[in-house]
Amino acid sequence: MPVMATKPKVSSKPWQHRLSSDPAPATAALLASLDVDAALYPYDIAGSMAHAKMLRRIGVLKAAELKAILKGLASVGDALAAGKLPLDVSLEDIHMVVESALIARIGQAGRKLHTGRSRNDQVALDLRLWARDQVDQLVKLVRSLQLALVILADKQGRFVMPAYTHLQRAQPIMAGQAVLAYVEMLQRDAERLADCRKRVNLCPLGSGAVAGTSIPLDRRFVARELGFADITRNSIDATSDRDFLTELCFCLATLGGHLSRWAEDWIIYATTEFGFLELDDAFCTSSSMMPQKKNADTLELIRGKSAAAIAALTGMLTLTKGLPLAYNRDLQDDKRFCLPAVAAMRSALTVAAGVVSTARFRPRRIAATLEAGFLDATSLAEYLVSKGVPFRRAHQLVAGLVARAEKQGKSLSQLPLAQLQAAAAQIGPDVAGWLTPANVVKRYQPEGAAGPRQLDQQLKFWRKTLA
Ligand code: ARG
Repeated sequence: MPVMATKPKVSSKPWQHRLSSDPAPATAALLASLDVDAALYPYDIAGSMAHAKMLRRIGVLKAAELKAILKGLASVGDALAAGKLPLDVSLEDIHMVVESALIARIGQAGRKLHTGRSRNDQVALDLRLWARDQVDQLVKLVRSLQLALVILADKQGRFVMPAYTHLQRAQPIMAGQAVLAYVEMLQRDAERLADCRKRVNLCPLGSGAVAGTSIPLDRRFVARELGFADITRNSIDATSDRDFLTELCFCLATLGGHLSRWAEDWIIYATTEFGFLELDDAFCTSSSMMPQKKNADTLELIRGKSAAAIAALTGMLTLTKGLPLAYNRDLQDDKRFCLPAVAAMRSALTVAAGVVSTARFRPRRIAATLEAGFLDATSLAEYLVSKGVPFRRAHQLVAGLVARAEKQGKSLSQLPLAQLQAAAAQIGPDVAGWLTPANVVKRYQPEGAAGPRQLDQQLKFWRKTLA
């Protein structure tokens, strides 16, 4: 019997014929990113269309081949949108799913699409297109939340409430100013996202796996097709750079931190103890056991969502540290951090705008306790300064008066003039205009302070800026 050489076993994957086996299921699962990068398909398809048009321009594709590829890619996109394309994990990622579906549809021409391209520059492109889109959507959501806060400050914010430092009563402020403080934070968040976009908006395609290609690709054409401001300069960096994502995560983490501060404030405001704010029922939940409960669960979840963003930032920093040049497969897991973090922040921003636009301040409840906590003590010290008393001495004198008033269960404005004068002879009847929270806010002088004049100025600024 002749000894027949047995046919060597070869990997079934079209891009790894040099391997002799397919991975076992657990290995295939480790290698795959399809569960998360399937969401990138619109960007993958847009990138492939631009690449194909460029291949036609430089003569790699015939007109008929380009036509078939564009039509095929559109149909693959439709199938993915309709959830009608099976996501075969053995294909590892969305790039190979799209390519194999394209080849299944149009045959030979589909096999030319990957000319001069690697999944390394392809995924870098997809991520940049995705990040750019997300930044634009996030900025819009931040703007909507800012607008809701400005409307709240304008419509409901013209009353006096206590400001806190260390969560202890500090000085009286216009309620609108406390609302606008968050508009300021969100403004910086939007600006940071817009700045991050500059480093996102560069086209890496043409970098290949690491070193480029001998095929004379027209990178600038692809960049223009996809609306990029420019192309990346260095193929080695462009295929392994993910700091545009780390930066996006930093923007999200900072934004998440701000949202969590706002949520915490409002959770406190909505308690029975504070009673500063009534949340709309549509944004509250009750209890399966305690029938009376109205919980601010949406605010708690918004506060909690910041964890996803902070985790993504530390995840990206950890994932990328110490990686040798250039692309390493570790990078595939970038999506596992970034995509959920963006989704969390989008959800938080969307619901936050709803919470803000339906909330009701309770100015009468707030006014009822406004005399507590000596909010006018600093003003009284400044009154003494206006009478020539050095501030440090004035501070001391008022501290003594506060201690005395506290023992009597009175506010400073309730102390008889004679008692005030016994502490400081400089005090005259005009002191009344410097006491009580309502008088104090009117006396705030500097630009940016928390008085009614400054509130009007700031509202004017925001209405113009957000228009
Ligand atoms: N799915 C991969 C990623 O997201 C694509 C690049 C894979 N490249 C490679 N040479 N194995 O990073």
